[in-house]
Amino acid sequence: MSDEGRLERLTSMMRRRGIVLPSFEIYGGVSGLIDYGPVGARIKRRVVESWVDHWTSHGDIVEIDSPSITPKEVLVASGHVGEFNDYMSECASCEAIFRSDHLIEDLHPNPDSISGDEIDKIISENNVACPNCGEFGWSPARPMNLMFPTTIGAMRGGREAFLRPETAQGMFMLYPSLYRHFKQKLPFGALQTGRGYRNEISPRQGMIRLREFNMAELEYFIDPEDPPEVDLGGWKNPVSLVPDPEGGFSGSRVATFSDALDEGIIKHPTVAWFLARTWDFLVSIGIDSSKVRFRQHTGTEMAHYASDCWDCEILGEYGWVECVGIANRTCHDLESHEAHSGTNLLRAWRQYSEPILVKKDVLSPNGSVIGPIFKGRSSDVSDALSEMQEIPDKIPFSLDISDGTSVEITPDMVTRRTDEVNVHGEWFTPHVVEPAFGIDRIIWHVIDHAFNESGKSGEEYTILSLDEKVTPFDVSVLPLFDKEGMGEIARKLASEINSIPGIRADIDTSRSIGRRYARADEIGVPWAITVDHSTIDDDTVTIRRRDNQMQIRVPIKIAIDGLRTRSLDSMF
Ligand code: ATP
Ligand code: GLY
Repeated sequence: MSDEGRLERLTSMMRRRGIVLPSFEIYGGVSGLIDYGPVGARIKRRVVESWVDHWTSHGDIVEIDSPSITPKEVLVASGHVGEFNDYMSECASCEAIFRSDHLIEDLHPNPDSISGDEIDKIISENNVACPNCGEFGWSPARPMNLMFPTTIGAMRGGREAFLRPETAQGMFMLYPSLYRHFKQKLPFGALQTGRGYRNEISPRQGMIRLREFNMAELEYFIDPEDPPEVDLGGWKNPVSLVPDPEGGFSGSRVATFSDALDEGIIKHPTVAWFLARTWDFLVSIGIDSSKVRFRQHTGTEMAHYASDCWDCEILGEYGWVECVGIANRTCHDLESHEAHSGTNLLRAWRQYSEPILVKKDVLSPNGSVIGPIFKGRSSDVSDALSEMQEIPDKIPFSLDISDGTSVEITPDMVTRRTDEVNVHGEWFTPHVVEPAFGIDRIIWHVIDHAFNESGKSGEEYTILSLDEKVTPFDVSVLPLFDKEGMGEIARKLASEINSIPGIRADIDTSRSIGRRYARADEIGVPWAITVDHSTIDDDTVTIRRRDNQMQIRVPIKIAIDGLRTRSLDSMF
């Protein structure tokens, strides 16, 4: 079939077959919200599970799970309250509101990286018409924060909060627990999958721009002075890279990750490693590798927290779409959360290879004064004095001691002197490299790349050639007719298959066998097992392969074993 109208046929198939549908449709729908139906929810589960397995198999990355509702303080510290904005422009005639950068996306290479004044200038110089009514008058572009506000507790007196715009903050909040879990040793990572919420100004393009979407994010904590060594030699295939032109590289490049790191196109080894592993993941779930590229952000385009950022873009029916953002967030979040919360727990210890001798001002306790005044507590006071990291400029001062109380230290209680001490290490704020995946955009492209309209001579026939890792069902069990005992055998077989861990069978008894094969092919089920008259006599079934429609006849037991060991392929 021709490519014309492919997008419409693809979206209509996804809707008809219960993959992705508009939410709340009987009430008119809500733009930016979608449902995964009975087929789509299974695909989504498998994509998410593959993603979690892909990263946790490294051993130094663990999964966590944190709330979507996030107190305002957290998002003030992360910068989202102040800076997580998009510009919007309102049509002066019909009052329709649009994301300003979308209005000028053909007129500027990076429209979401420029100021409101620059946007207004481009709109007026190019006479941009309102997509809704065709008129030309616009309000000045103004920033709109994208977070959904809410209140924890009773409206009045409740605590201000937002639905999380990213899952990443959950990993930063749990940093002390992660540091303990990994025995105080960097590098380590934590990931979570879950919903993110952004009140997008103009949701569009189906599941590409949603207001509630599925995120999968990983924060990898490293020592910036001693980043983990990476070996990129295993990635021999060159990939498409579009470096930041302001960074001295013009145009796009095709290079291996290793060469790109050596040439300085990718600046940080950990970032390069995450680009490579992101590529592996996408290809492993069926994304066409020739439709993947990595584009580096320009300085002005970068998120408020990042020092280097690459988008992994995938080509599909909507053109090149960002599906993963890989950012070097440096120490932005941990440092800011320390400053805002007053804790000092968001650090790591760096042990020196040799102790360093440094001069240090100390206050040594005068026992003859402290003893009589503090009596039983005097040794606690002496200990607290010797553990002080910084000596206050002024004495008297208040000193916290280990029993939870504080005491006043006066000049006669201490003698100031300078000691030479051995320092064995130092506390520092780890840096963070983050791959942030948009699961919905990835699912869209997995389905787009698998959508084969292979009908010959104009006849419509669709096969969704999904990778077996992400198919909604592993097998369809089809009785030729639901009579003469064939239906019962099929139901028993399906339930036996469903008892195999990780394998799911669908049973379909409706209408002709040809239509049932077509339905299974259309949602990507890789195998069909058909129960027919011979099955009743000799316990054999036919196995049909989705991708070439070939069939073989085998005993039921062999079919089940083939599914259990995922070796049906080898029988064809
Ligand atoms: P965009 O520029 O398209 O708005 P972004 O740069 O804001 O995306 P990130 O903040 O890097 O996106 O979010 C990480 C990932 O989450 C993106 O790569 C994308 O796959 C996904 N994502 C972001 N916003 C949305 C959305 N509104 N709907 C669906 N997925 C989204
Ligand atoms: N955590 C990445 C993002 O939300 O942009």
